Amino acid sequence: MPSTEKGIFVSSKNTYHVAPTNVAAAPSGCPIHQTWSPLSEEYLTDPYPIASQLREDHPVFYAEELGYVVVTRMQDIEHVFMNPDIYASSNVQDPLYPLADEAVEVLSAPDFDPIAVMSNRPEPDHGRIRVYTRKGFSNRRLKTLEQYMRDRAEELIDQMIASGKSAEYVAAVAFPLPAEIVFRFIGFPKADDVMIKSWCAERKAFSWGKPTAEQQVEISEHMLSYWRYCRDFVADRRDNRTDDFASELLDAHDANNEELTYREVESVVYGLSFAGHDPVTNLLCNTLLCLLSRRDQWDAICADPSLIPNAVEETLRYESSQIAWRRVTIEDTTLGGVDLPAGTPIFLNFAAANRSPESFEQPDDFDIHRPNANRHMSFGKGIHLCLGAGLAKMEARIALEVLTQKLPSLRLAENQELTMFPNITFRGPETLQLEWD
Ligand code: HEM
Repeated sequence: MPSTEKGIFVSSKNTYHVAPTNVAAAPSGCPIHQTWSPLSEEYLTDPYPIASQLREDHPVFYAEELGYVVVTRMQDIEHVFMNPDIYASSNVQDPLYPLADEAVEVLSAPDFDPIAVMSNRPEPDHGRIRVYTRKGFSNRRLKTLEQYMRDRAEELIDQMIASGKSAEYVAAVAFPLPAEIVFRFIGFPKADDVMIKSWCAERKAFSWGKPTAEQQVEISEHMLSYWRYCRDFVADRRDNRTDDFASELLDAHDANNEELTYREVESVVYGLSFAGHDPVTNLLCNTLLCLLSRRDQWDAICADPSLIPNAVEETLRYESSQIAWRRVTIEDTTLGGVDLPAGTPIFLNFAAANRSPESFEQPDDFDIHRPNANRHMSFGKGIHLCLGAGLAKMEARIALEVLTQKLPSLRLAENQELTMFPNITFRGPETLQLEWD
């Protein structure tokens, strides 16, 4: 076994990814589901009927295939998010299952040492770091980005239109646009976009999928490269400041290096460069999947763009780009009548909660006029509430504004088979074929 003094096993020092050493057992008295898995073909294809059935059968249950206690009701998920002293977020970036020894060996490189900073860092440090990260999302910066975002959306969509009467939307727009936005926000050079984005896809498999031992080794090698890239980038910015988020963090570090340490700056860059675009790529695709398959609602936003913001919220509820998240209990507690000992890993099933009839009328209907569409759980809640929610919604709104204005005849190509990247959390088609007149 590799040393516990380095790499991914040092959980006591807030290591960014902590691999589990075993699959947790069912808490005594907890209902058990022996076969359901969020990685099954059937669930990946369409999770909603299954998630609703799970919610109706047992709102809180242990999934044997996963080794997690699954929480499906909106009120229970809210309770978990609002009680961070009982339910910690320390496991949200961890691999789901124990890793192969060869992968552990790669990640045990002495310089692979990102630390938990945002989504996976406990209080009080999380709150201390979030103060600085939040500043990066100032109105001034978002305003500057909005113009850049619109210009790039127009350029990419114009290029797509110039290519003919059909296109694959992920490659044409949904992949490059969010990546460019967040990478320019952080300050990464444009020439590196494709390389960083491919590393991020692999990180999704590492933390939320079930890669084979061979895949784990390859992913681990790329994660090491990715972390080294982030470190080199921050080192370069330390000497060459500019008007970007990384420079702002370094200025804050210079002003008080105990309030924000240098390793924390490096780790925020590592974390944000993943969090900031993959779910947005999915959101851009999911808005089109929902709207173009309901012509009346697409035509309605073409005629009245002021309906777009609520159409984006309804997409986040109905076909979210993030359908689950995780927590772990840090003390004995009871949830939904089930006793949970400290150390129980928890799987929060947003797909079930966002379609709950207690929270939404006719939950299985997609309706851009829904008055409480924004009551979805897709950005989390409480102290870890997604910092990029405003940015993500702005990107989706702008992409739809440009598309509805330039391509009102847009439609989904018929008979296309949609495939989803196999993972427990992020949801959106890997490719999306579009056509227009
Ligand atoms: C549709 C797109 C997105 C979805 C669905 C999404 C969803 C989420 C969720 C569920 C959380 C965890 C909340 C919790 O643990 O309570 C989260 C946290 C976070 N998100 Fe997002 N996110 C999206 C886009 C973005 C973007 C564009 C950025 C940044 C540019 C971003 C940055 C973050 C950060 C930094 C956190 C950690 C916040 C903290 O722990 O204090 N996200 N997001």
